[in-house]
Amino acid sequence: MNIIGPDALVFGVEDLPACRQYLLDYGLKDAGNDRYEALDGTAIVLRAKDDATLPAAMGTASLLRETVYGVADVATLDAIETELRRDREVSRRDGVVRSVDDMGFALAFQVTVRRALDMKSERVNGPGDAQRAPNQLGLPAEDQALPRTLSHVVYFVPDAAKAEAFYQRLGFVCTDRFTGVGPFLRPAGTLDHHTLFMIQTPPFMKGCEHFTFHMGGPTEVLLAGTRFVEKGYQSFWGPGRHRFGSNWFWYFNSPLGCHVEYDADMDLHDDQWAAREVPMGADASQLFLFQYREKWAPSGPPPPGAAH
Ligand SMILES: [Fe+2]
Repeated sequence: MNIIGPDALVFGVEDLPACRQYLLDYGLKDAGNDRYEALDGTAIVLRAKDDATLPAAMGTASLLRETVYGVADVATLDAIETELRRDREVSRRDGVVRSVDDMGFALAFQVTVRRALDMKSERVNGPGDAQRAPNQLGLPAEDQALPRTLSHVVYFVPDAAKAEAFYQRLGFVCTDRFTGVGPFLRPAGTLDHHTLFMIQTPPFMKGCEHFTFHMGGPTEVLLAGTRFVEKGYQSFWGPGRHRFGSNWFWYFNSPLGCHVEYDADMDLHDDQWAAREVPMGADASQLFLFQYREKWAPSGPPPPGAAH
């Protein structure tokens, strides 16, 4: 089934003004009706927690109310509807197929709203492989570094094996796995290492752990993350680089009941790829990890804690 990836995540939040400001400061664009879009039209949608039009809450602290998948065409919607009707209730209205996965996450499927991007990603000049033309500068413009596309969502689930089996029915394949934790899953319509990762947790934690948008490269992750810190938001983890997926990351706390990440430069895989499996641990989770600090210049006094 030609599922491309998440088109949107819908949250039912307690503090709408804080969430609106957060998403604008993160770099998404106000598209009206509390829809905040990346450059390709993928989005985060905000609603009040008690909005009667939302799917039911999961009964945990999670504020995620619906994961909206973009699919390639109507034939894929038909195939999803047929598959899910085998064992659960499905609705189809205005081109949107809705149902619930085996863990209780509300899902919607639609022909994708994504617009194709025609933008350069970050280029690196290395000896033997210069990727930038002469006179082409390496730094992005300061006003750039905007989220390009909704990359992935991570769920806390009480039964990762059962959850994975459900997504296999929709054509998702495991690209890598942390033993006893959960799989990285890639749907058939993208080469991205994952659009969904699952972490097994006790049932009371069920919900969204984080979501992220792809940036144009590691410099954009660092630039956007630095801007976000300087606006007063709290770094949670990063910047760093994951091992599985090779993606650069920087995670922040948010008022959406989950962490929010910037990421870039994820590995692409096709059906020739053989999934790896390792135990979870600090080394397995990241190649390296840094921490933000304020800018300084070597002409001034060294910052506190700097080596002399
Ligand atoms: Fe992530």
